[in-house]
Amino acid sequence: MTAALAYREAVARLTAAGLPDAARDARLLMAHALEISADRVMLALHDPLPEAAAMRLEEAVTARLARQPVSQITGQRQFWGRSFRVTRDVLDPRPETETLVAEALAAPFSRILDLGTGSGAILLTLLAERSGATGIATDLSDAALEVARGNAVALGLTDRASFLQGDWFAPISGRFDLIVSNPPYIAADEMAGLSPEVREWEPHLALTPGGDGLDAYRAIAAGARDHLLPQGRLLVEIGPTQGAAVAALFTAAGLAQARILTDLDNRHRVVSAIAPQ
Ligand SMILES: C[S@@+](CC[C@H](N)C(=O)[O-])C[C@H]1O[C@@H](n2cnc3c(N)ncnc32)[C@H](O)[C@@H]1O
Repeated sequence: MTAALAYREAVARLTAAGLPDAARDARLLMAHALEISADRVMLALHDPLPEAAAMRLEEAVTARLARQPVSQITGQRQFWGRSFRVTRDVLDPRPETETLVAEALAAPFSRILDLGTGSGAILLTLLAERSGATGIATDLSDAALEVARGNAVALGLTDRASFLQGDWFAPISGRFDLIVSNPPYIAADEMAGLSPEVREWEPHLALTPGGDGLDAYRAIAAGARDHLLPQGRLLVEIGPTQGAAVAALFTAAGLAQARILTDLDNRHRVVSAIAPQ
């Protein structure tokens, strides 16, 4: 079979299953099957499809038809221009989270704490972008931390990044000039409305703290002042309806200048605050 025919069949099967981005998904799965970059797929479609690649493609399409996210099937996700390994143990890093990264990079920092690091996408991106900085990340999930450590190795950042298992600030001592977090923030009653890709394949621990979705922010607000240097910054990602509630939590915890920032779609996406002098 030629690669072109296999590709067309993959698009047809994914389309018939109602997947909204069938052609894009098929291109990424074909790249994975052929072990080439996605921008070379159209060129490769002129060639016959090797047997091993055909088997890999069949496995990948079957997984996608079961609504497994493409990033978990290929094991990779691009974030801020770098490739991160993604497994079922970590949240697939989202483009929206680049809003928090951009805000973090808008001012100097030298010592970062990333709470709930998942794949390590936020901490490792910030360290890669600021060669003088060091950082610590926590996560409740040992399995997630293994993925983050692997990404630190792949990006050559092990000498500046450390990873500690525990509940938010519990394993942390010392103070930081930048604390970042993209915590779980989906309310319990919103879980049923998520796509199957998210609800059935991404870790529950990464998605929701239960209840009204604000518990992680309560924990972060409670510990922030004891872990920020004077004038240190706290930046958290939020769900689009949570800005006012999270800003109020930070102000009540004694932080100053709580601000709500928007993403490229003009939705509330980040709350920032700073520690008093
Ligand atoms: C929304 S994911 C974000 C992952 C990553 N920072 C990102 O932006 O792609 C939230 C992360 O918080 C972790 N987490 C959940 N509850 C936690 C807790 N009580 N203490 C520390 N980490 C926690 C989850 O395991 C998950 O990795």
